[in-house]
Amino acid sequence: MRIVDLRSDTVTKPSPEMWEMIKSLDNSKLGDDVLGEDPTINELEEKAAKIIGKEAALYVTSGTQGNLVSMLSQANPGEEIMLEELSHIYKNEVGSAARIGGLMIRTYPSNKGVPDFKEIQKMIRNKDNIHQPPSTLLCAENTHNYHGGAVIKPEDLYNFKEFAEMNDLKFHLDGARIFNASVASNLPVTEFTKHADSIMFCLSKGLSCPVGSLVAGSQNFISKARKFRKMVGGGMRQAGIIASFGLIALEPKWIKRLEEDHKNAKILADGLRNLGLNVEVYSPETNILIVEFLDKVRILKIIRSLADEGILAFNIDKQKIRFVTHYGINEDDIQYSIEKIGIVLKGISF
Ligand SMILES: Cc1ncc(COP(=O)(O)O)c(C=O)c1O
Repeated sequence: MRIVDLRSDTVTKPSPEMWEMIKSLDNSKLGDDVLGEDPTINELEEKAAKIIGKEAALYVTSGTQGNLVSMLSQANPGEEIMLEELSHIYKNEVGSAARIGGLMIRTYPSNKGVPDFKEIQKMIRNKDNIHQPPSTLLCAENTHNYHGGAVIKPEDLYNFKEFAEMNDLKFHLDGARIFNASVASNLPVTEFTKHADSIMFCLSKGLSCPVGSLVAGSQNFISKARKFRKMVGGGMRQAGIIASFGLIALEPKWIKRLEEDHKNAKILADGLRNLGLNVEVYSPETNILIVEFLDKVRILKIIRSLADEGILAFNIDKQKIRFVTHYGINEDDIQYSIEKIGIVLKGISF
């Protein structure tokens, strides 16, 4: 059966150029990265820092680990950190900030990732009050996964930074898909990173590497993050083997390829709208499309019925399905998906 896997951009597999790169490796390109001696990792970290516009970068095993070592580096146990209420760190990272970091989590509401700064001002703790934990870290997510790949614009990021500075907070950006924001806005990625003290971005999503993410920031931040990475088991020795994929992923041509995913998400959205179903099809800004059912539905039944027809997707709550476009999915797959989704949704009894 033909399968179109629209569950996530994490299902992507390496490109032929990435396989060529890995084949060209030999032992001279590998070393012990815990000792800072893996030339491939060092090259990737330097390349990433340059592209992101920060002093230094650090290769980590995953986005989750990157966010964790960033939070551990930017805030101390007993302090309060501010996370957007639908953020990946809050919803999907197993509460690591609290469990491992001893950090108190405060969530803030937002409009597609951007809070009302006057409202969240009321959440800031008074550092001089003997009863309160100090607020020390503010986090944002760009693009925002649960808000359907929404882009937080540079001017809004500037407001985050201003708010953070005014309140003596560090500002960390979960930029798992920051290159999607940059490509969709036709702006250099540094416009999206320059206001953050630290940023995490993933190689293993739209950039289609099998493993790995990077964190970037000041030299001082990266030194701390390197030690925390070791603490949480992320010191990986001859990791140049897997990091080498990232050297291809960070080439301008490969970053620009994300445009195709954005285009496909729009085609999917238009196609689903034309089916005339009782659903709200959100307008995708990047590669994530959310479809909301307006009738009360059994969402898992829908997911199963779609899977039976070869269309894989995730539900993100009781009424919403998320479709993600990515490397390996072409326009023909999208047209096929529209047809199949139409057949399933018209035929299903909720
Ligand atoms: C916004 C966001 N941040 C962080 C992560 C975590 O990345 P990883 O799956 O590599 O741990 C994800 C994963 O989907 C994500 O969507």
